[in-house]
Amino acid sequence: VNEISRIKNLNRIQIGKHEVETWYFSPYPPEYAHADTIYICEFCLSHYLSKKQLQRHRNKCQLQHPPGNEIYRHQDISFFEIDGRKQKTWCRNLCLLSKLFLDHKTLYYDVDPFLFYCMTLRDEVGCHLIGYFSKEKESSENYNVACILTLPQWQRMGFGKLLIAFSYELSRVEGKVGSPEKPLSDLGLLSYRAYWADTIVEMLLNTQEEITVEEISQKTAITTQDILHTLQFIGALRYYKGQHVIAISDKIQQDHEKHKRKTTRRIEPTKLSWQPIK
Ligand code: COA
Ligand code: NA
Repeated sequence: VNEISRIKNLNRIQIGKHEVETWYFSPYPPEYAHADTIYICEFCLSHYLSKKQLQRHRNKCQLQHPPGNEIYRHQDISFFEIDGRKQKTWCRNLCLLSKLFLDHKTLYYDVDPFLFYCMTLRDEVGCHLIGYFSKEKESSENYNVACILTLPQWQRMGFGKLLIAFSYELSRVEGKVGSPEKPLSDLGLLSYRAYWADTIVEMLLNTQEEITVEEISQKTAITTQDILHTLQFIGALRYYKGQHVIAISDKIQQDHEKHKRKTTRRIEPTKLSWQPIK
């Protein structure tokens, strides 16, 4: 790829009912290089140069949800698991779309080693994509998320935290602890920190007995390292009589209650119907 073609070309995309400004370069085919807007089918994620072409496609496109198994359904949220090896075109289209909002240098054209967990909102038309995360089928580092994205039209509504919660629920079912692939973007780090703090403080407030960092880790599937960083970051780690203790101040508790009131959606573990692929 030469330098010129790496300059951000597209300015916006049209997807479903939404028109969205793009953030970064994504290597769509050369004929898209001079397009201002591209038109994307919200279900099969194929792309077009004009509204008319998309319309023609929409008249015959049969897809009403991502092409995989629905492994979770609760309220209006459904999750689909998609195998990159079985749904190469769809997954490559998803990577192209998400690259528009990710500042990574590399894009995985090789989608085979990944599973894609796609979160959708259900209505009478179908299951509309809100966001997703990818996960390596085998991660030597025990990463439980490779890439994570909420489409911009759905950001800042708590969906990122819901995606993160789902990734940890999968780890819990696997009987593992996990952590997202590094480096995280700025927005990724903000969201993970918020999720970790919510989850750990909630657990501590609901625990009467003494609890160790190791036990918090087993219950939440968050690594002990991420737990310690979070406790330090929120100012809950104290040094007392020669050892570290966890102390939840009134301020931390108040912040937590405030956040909790804003949280409307949660992952309901009993609604997950899933076995890890062996
Ligand atoms: N400014 C400040 N804080 C932000 C923020 C922003 N723009 N976006 C998220 N946060 C923080 C907040 O603390 C927020 O919680 P709060 O609203 O209760 O205060 C928390 O992160 C989670 O927000 P949420 O609404 O659940 O996340 P989201 O749906 O907006 O998705 C990302 C978060 C990271 C998935 C989304 O920003 C994204 O897709 N970014 C582009 C791709 C990317 O960078 N991915 C991560 C690296 S692979
Ligand atoms: Na990541």
